[in-house]
Parts: sequence; structure tokens; C-alpha cells
Amino acid sequence: MTVIQTRKPLLETLKGQRADRLPMWLMRQAGRYLPEYRALRAEKGGFLELVHDSAAAAEVTLQPIRRFGFDGAILFSDILVVPHALGQDLWFEAGEGPRLAPKLVDATLEALTKAPERLLPVIETVRQVKALLPGETTFLGFAGSPWTVATYMVAGQGSREQAETRRFAYRDPKAFQQIIDAIADLTISYLSDQISAGVEAVQLFDSWSGSLSPAQFEDWVIAPTAKIISSLKARHPEAVVIGFPKGAGGKLPAYAREVGADAIGLDETVDPVWAHQNLPKNLPVQGNLDPLALIAGGATLDAAVTRVIDAFADRPHVFNLGHGILPDTPIAHVEALVARIRG
Ligand code: CP3
Repeated sequence: MTVIQTRKPLLETLKGQRADRLPMWLMRQAGRYLPEYRALRAEKGGFLELVHDSAAAAEVTLQPIRRFGFDGAILFSDILVVPHALGQDLWFEAGEGPRLAPKLVDATLEALTKAPERLLPVIETVRQVKALLPGETTFLGFAGSPWTVATYMVAGQGSREQAETRRFAYRDPKAFQQIIDAIADLTISYLSDQISAGVEAVQLFDSWSGSLSPAQFEDWVIAPTAKIISSLKARHPEAVVIGFPKGAGGKLPAYAREVGADAIGLDETVDPVWAHQNLPKNLPVQGNLDPLALIAGGATLDAAVTRVIDAFADRPHVFNLGHGILPDTPIAHVEALVARIRG
């Protein structure tokens, strides 16, 4: 029997080929800008309830694929399920954001009772999506990078410039290293489980890497990220990893050289022309339309899209936003963007 290989433009691009069409997906593509997401979230009672209900989370993962036909489906979950599995309580305050307790400025890691079973519903979501996903769609898993996850674990919530966590890391680098190591170790097994259950590539979100000094960036971003990627590749030689060090700016070339990611995500503050000139020649890049240009729409959106596409015309490129799509993004603008990228 001849097996016909399904073509997956996104996966091929992440592996370093230039596909015959530009693949696209959008960070946070499953979420509040979609009425079908808001309806299901209301029915389930909240965001975490949705994440823990594998059938509902699988449905939410597929909603943007059905509506827009994106090339990638990203697992519906959150980066904070890892602290939850390390034993912190996790909840979302309406209109404010995530909360974790006890926060690690007040408590030690050893005081927490690990609860790895809290990740099982997410792995079940992977299995269910895998069975339902169109053949040409690439399935993306993800986790937060240790630094970004640690900022929530230490402060117990999102924080301005991550000052509390940076102070902690200067004051007690040994204790902070233990936190980074605990997150990294669980992240390796969690991503490995996602890959075993069916995701084809994983993205490491380092949303707050921009607040670190160069030396801290080496210790808390580059070193643990390199460890996660090399361990994953030892377990799964085929593993494909996208590193997304948001805000890294001038530290991007070092990150690209040192962490071993297959592709690098760029946020909207990075000049795409600069990135093309300063990143290794054939390294695949992902990004980096400003989410606010998508909200603006019209000629502004068109010009911003052209700038990104033209800059990366000579290397493998995955079209994406520079950060997550915002809840007040008009659906008509997403439709216009898809039509534009699809040519
Ligand atoms: O991209 C996707 O569609 C997949 C799902 C996904 C979510 N969060 C769902 C979510 C992903 C990849 C994330 C990543 C995430 N979560 C990050 C890194 C990327 C980034 O955006 O910086 C961070 C820092 C978090 C932590 C987090 N989760 C915060 C700060 C918040 C509250 C702020 C907000 O946007 O509501 C969340 C909640 C969250 N995670 C929502 C979704 C769809 C909104 C929940 C809701 O109200 O329905």
C-alpha cells in the first residue's frame, strides 16, 4: 500500500523548508474574541473549568480552525497549569487575572504537595484533538518557559516589570535556581507527554523575558530553555520547538545561537528587517504583526502585513502576531487578514 504523506505547510516551515504557501496561525487564537468561545466558557462556568473538561477544551482548540482554516491548532490550556501541578492553588479573578497561592515569596517549594495528576486532563485533550484535526493542520502544544512561570509562582500573580521575582533571584539565587529547576523538570515531562499524545511541535512562551539584565537573561532564560530543548530532543529526536522570548530585543541573536530551538517567535517590537539581518540565515522565524494593527484594520493593517511578509521573503516564515490576539479584535479583520495571507 502506498502511504500518501499529508502536506503540512506549518510543520514543514518550522523544520526549515520554505512551503509553497505562507503558513499562519495566531497566538491566543482560541479565546474571548470568538462568540463561540464565550458561549462555551459561560456554559462550563469559567476558564479553568473549560481547561479541565477535555472534550470542551478540544472543541475550543478546533473552533478557530473551523472558522478560519489556520495552518496550526494550538492546544487549549494555560501556562499556569504547571504551577498548579507543582502544588500551588490556581484560580482566575474575574477582570483581574490569575492568582497562585501560597506565593513563593512567602512559602518554600518543599511546602507544596505536588499534584502531577492535575495535568492529565490536558493530555487527554491532546488525544481528543488529535483524533479530530484535519490532516493538513499542524498540532501545536506549549508550555511557559521557567522564567515566565516563576514570575507568577513567586509573586502569586502577574506583576509590574516582574520586580518582586527579580529581587528574589538576586537575594537568594540558590532558592530561585531550585524553583527554575523544578519548573524546567516538570515542563520537560509535560511537553514530552504532549508529544507522545500527538502534538507535532511545541512552543515555549517566555512572555516576560524582556525585563531581565543580560546576565540574568543568560541564567534564567537561556540556560533553562536550552536544558528543556536538549532533554526533549533526547527523548523525542523528531521534536520541533518554537522559542518565543518576548521582549528579548537585542538578546535575540544570543538566544537563537544558544537555546537550540528550531524556530524563533518574534514580538511586534522587533524590526523584521533587523531580525532577518541578525538571525542565522535559514532559521525559521514566526511573527510578528502588531495585534493592535489587526484591531486597526484597513490600510494600516495592509501596510503592516506587507512589511512583515517582505522582510522574511527569503527565509522560512510562519505568519503570526507578535503577541496574543486581543479580545476586542473584530472578526472581520481576522477574516481580511486570512484572505490577504492566503493571497
Ligand atoms: O493561544 C491559545 O489560543 C492557546 C491557549 C493559551 C491561553 N493562555 C489561554 C488563555 C495560551 C498559549 C496561553 C499562554 C499564557 N497564559 C501566557 C503566555 C502568553 C502570553 O499571552 O503572554 C501567559 C502569561 C498566561 C497566563 C494567563 N492566562 C493570564 C495572564 C491570563 C489572564 C489575562 C487574559 O488574557 O485573560 C490568562 C487567562 C487565559 N489564558 C485566557 C485564555 C483564553 C482568558 C480566560 C478567559 O477569560 O476566558
